[in-house]
Amino acid sequence: MDVESLKQEAGVAACAYVNDGMNVGLGTGSTVKYTIIELGRRVTEEGLSIVGVPTSLATEELARSVGIPLAELDTLNMLDVVIDGTDEFDPQFNLIKGGGAALLREKIVAQASKKMVVVADARKQVEHLGAFPLPVEITCFSWATTKRSIEKVLNCLTSRRMNGDEPLKTDNGNFIIDAQTGPNIHDPAETERQLLALAGVVQVGLFNGMCDVVILARDDGVEILTKED
Ligand code: A5P
Repeated sequence: MDVESLKQEAGVAACAYVNDGMNVGLGTGSTVKYTIIELGRRVTEEGLSIVGVPTSLATEELARSVGIPLAELDTLNMLDVVIDGTDEFDPQFNLIKGGGAALLREKIVAQASKKMVVVADARKQVEHLGAFPLPVEITCFSWATTKRSIEKVLNCLTSRRMNGDEPLKTDNGNFIIDAQTGPNIHDPAETERQLLALAGVVQVGLFNGMCDVVILARDDGVEILTKED
């Protein structure tokens, strides 16, 4: 099966976690896109009643276009569930996220959700996090100083993410530093703690202990992994 079909399978399967009356965090990326499209279909064709909270401007636009009613997180209490993609997940369900530069809003929404469901294809499953460069959102002010500090903490090379010839700016007006740690983030909580201690770091793309369920699409079908397994 091609990767796009696997993403679609995982994305659509995640809709089983959404019921009438729920407030739903809507993640960002090319896998959860399929969740959002399917939820939109259920809203318009089947009368599903939900309120979505998008984690990026791109997701907001997509969700509006498929007819999902939206609200700002501040106007709601806890969300029932957030469904989001991931760049990697390890056996403890720690994640690297931020490949789509939406990590800050994604983490705010995930922290405000009772349950986090992650949609992924088999390429995202790893033993140790870090083969995917770790995204770190930083302030534009003195960015090069913060970049050097990140390199010192992680003892690896980093690069500032670009968008064509220009540095990429997140939805929050910040830069992203991608850190080439290699697949050896053995203590993600400690790595996150050290990076967050740097004043210029706004957020780190490590989502530790937040994910409850991974919907994993493989060639031979969709597997539901839960934390208790
Ligand atoms: C967005 O910033 C990311 O956290 C995405 O959720 C993550 O990169 C997964 O995206 P894909 O489903 O496109 O691989």
